[in-house]
Amino acid sequence: MGVNKKTAIITGAGSGIGAGIALKLAKKGADVVVLDINRPGAEKIAKEINDTGGKAIAVQADITSWPEVNAVVEETIRVFGTIDILVNNAGALKDSSILKMAEQDWDLVIDTCLKGSWHCCKAVLGHMRSQNFGRVINITSRAWLGNPGQSNYSSAKAGIVGLTRSLALEFASYGITVNIVAPGFIEAPMARRLPLETQQKVINAQPIKRPGRVEDVANAVLFFCDDETSYITGQILYVDGGRHVI
Ligand SMILES: NC(=O)c1ccc[n+]([C@@H]2O[C@H](COP(=O)([O-])OP(=O)(O)OC[C@H]3O[C@@H](n4cnc5c(N)ncnc54)[C@H](O)[C@@H]3O)[C@@H](O)[C@H]2O)c1
Repeated sequence: MGVNKKTAIITGAGSGIGAGIALKLAKKGADVVVLDINRPGAEKIAKEINDTGGKAIAVQADITSWPEVNAVVEETIRVFGTIDILVNNAGALKDSSILKMAEQDWDLVIDTCLKGSWHCCKAVLGHMRSQNFGRVINITSRAWLGNPGQSNYSSAKAGIVGLTRSLALEFASYGITVNIVAPGFIEAPMARRLPLETQQKVINAQPIKRPGRVEDVANAVLFFCDDETSYITGQILYVDGGRHVI
């Protein structure tokens, strides 16, 4: 039941939404691998979990690097003996009109959001298949539906939808589900980097007129992790105050 005694790798867990997911899963009894390119961030969250009776390790890794992702998987098996849950949360944002967008801003966002998620899936799915159990949750964004100034980010997040649906089909017969949580405006660093005026405009455009909380996203992730949701795969769960409906 739930995530108790399960092992979860959460990418980008050194801050914001990823940190919230790590803390939530740990509170529910999971052993957590706090993966982030930012070592101090990862160490802070792992310490918070260990200090409050949970079990976590911090690992610094760049998910755009296949050898670094593989090393995390080996370390996870060495420390916890298994990998049951992968949450692909790490992401990057470099907004501008396509007319002004530098090629490296395209590459950074695609490599971090899409290729990084592909690396992590590729590295854990063989293990999950051999144990006939796995839960993969990919964090995309409502922006996958399209947003001006986000040709790189929307493309990367739409790519994650294709990745998720393909893997859901490829691994359905092995007890592995692959699903998506698509946040809208969440009170976390990525949204808070937007100009204040833009933040207010986004919130005003939502049916539910408040920013989402990190906890709202963590609860959606928890839902897909549960044994009780084993019949749900390839699904997108929006956590966006109803914005995608309009
Ligand atoms: N905040 C929002 O409103 C919002 C809305 C929709 C979707 N999202 C998505 O949620 C996720 C988390 O966003 P957030 O607001 O918490 O942002 P954030 O910037 O706080 O978190 C991103 C984390 O990913 C890490 N990271 C970046 N590149 C990495 C790499 N190459 N390897 C490993 N780690 C790396 C960063 O160090 C950071 O800790 C992202 O995927 C983002 O696209 C956020």
